[in-house]
Amino acid sequence: MNNKIIEKKMFEKVREAEKNTKINQDPYKLGFHLMPPTGWLNDPNGLCQFKGVYHVFFQYSPFDAEGGDKFWGHYVSKDMISWEYKGPIMGPDTPYDKDGVYSGSTFVEDGKMYIYYTGNVKESGNHDYITSGRGANVLLVTSEDGENFSDKQLLITNEDYPSNYTCHIRDPKVWKEDGVYYMVLGGRENIDGTEFSDIGKVLVYSSDDLKNWKLENEIAGKERFGYMWECPDMIDLNGSKFLSISPQGLESEEFKYQNVHQSGYYPLEGDFRKEYFLGNFVEWDMGFDFYAPQSFVDEKGRVILIGWMGLPDIDYTNKTLEYGWQHGLTLPRELSVKDGIVLQNPIEELKKIRKSEEEIELNEEIALDGLYELELNSIGKSIDKLKMIISKGLEVSYDKETSILKMEFKNDIGAGRDVRKAKLQSLDKIHMFVDKSSIEIFVNNGKMVLTTRFYPEQYTLEIIADENIESRLWNLAPEEMKF
Ligand code: FRU
Repeated sequence: MNNKIIEKKMFEKVREAEKNTKINQDPYKLGFHLMPPTGWLNDPNGLCQFKGVYHVFFQYSPFDAEGGDKFWGHYVSKDMISWEYKGPIMGPDTPYDKDGVYSGSTFVEDGKMYIYYTGNVKESGNHDYITSGRGANVLLVTSEDGENFSDKQLLITNEDYPSNYTCHIRDPKVWKEDGVYYMVLGGRENIDGTEFSDIGKVLVYSSDDLKNWKLENEIAGKERFGYMWECPDMIDLNGSKFLSISPQGLESEEFKYQNVHQSGYYPLEGDFRKEYFLGNFVEWDMGFDFYAPQSFVDEKGRVILIGWMGLPDIDYTNKTLEYGWQHGLTLPRELSVKDGIVLQNPIEELKKIRKSEEEIELNEEIALDGLYELELNSIGKSIDKLKMIISKGLEVSYDKETSILKMEFKNDIGAGRDVRKAKLQSLDKIHMFVDKSSIEIFVNNGKMVLTTRFYPEQYTLEIIADENIESRLWNLAPEEMKF
């Protein structure tokens, strides 16, 4: 259905913008995280391993670093360490996605990629684009080689959705179970026409042929939990199910929901097609910059999660704007489950970029070069008190007495970021990655993660602790990605 001539013209314009990128001059360019070649990036999309190759697509606005019409950009890798940027694969070039090729997923079967995504359409006229004026189509594109992509096929339109929903329905994630294909879509129900009654929900569709879809169920919290759920994902870890969502509209609390929008998971018991029970909602990440994650199962059977290292509608900023780009993706995190909690740990492969290992002295400031990995392990008993002063402006501290883990910017290296707090009963381990303008801190073997962007003038680290803590530090040497 897409007009390949229009598409070609659009892609040429994207390539032109990419040729003029300033990203390679930016001291805050990321060293081992995926980022846009120029302009704006948001959600990871279509994650899969296909015929041995890892594919990461992403929401991409190449012409405007503050966001604009969405394309899908495309990275491939054989090892999730060195990535090759392949260019845009889809742009807003049909009547069914003319205002954005929105988020979606890839389902792989019999040597074929099935890419499902939301085609965003804004009709002209006087609309609020919530209750009217917006088309939220599900479209399909296929590929046999991961390089050439078929025409777009329209599968689901607004008419197919239940009438008690607003037109905010999007982000299809597809999987197969018990011989049937399933798709979850994030939605915003509205019962009585007033804005305050909007409820975030997930729509579950089923199909026998990957093309014709019928509504199977709706999933919601026992009580209203935000007005909109974006980017749903059904994750299976050793037979336990978790429903991941990115809810909008949660009230901020001292130790919870501190960002403008959240993302997290519910343990799901029972049958998602019929009667189900949702457990307690757990946030994926307690830092300033994390949203809209997506998982996939790789050919080894690992379940891997990648998030957007950024958020929409934030009141802090990113200094990378000076170089015409914004945001990145998190490191791939391998998921596992322990006592009902999902653990997230950086993939094994990352060890390959370690250059040199050193032990570091506690209570002494050391100078670093902006690409490093740190591990702190308690010896004998859990840690009572710890403070890490990172680049003279970010303090990460823990106090067992109060059970508070805190990430706090003390000056403007956070570009407007202030403080995030989490309750943590005990601290045994910190595993941290610093990549020029990003930090990811994995706590207690991935029970909690804190991700943030930051913009330091120098890279220093001081670990303040009285106790017996084993520390290891690696300088990292990733292959440089040139755009
Ligand atoms: C989440 C999101 C999705 C949507 C996409 C558009 O960040 O709002 O719901 O498909 O971004 O870029």
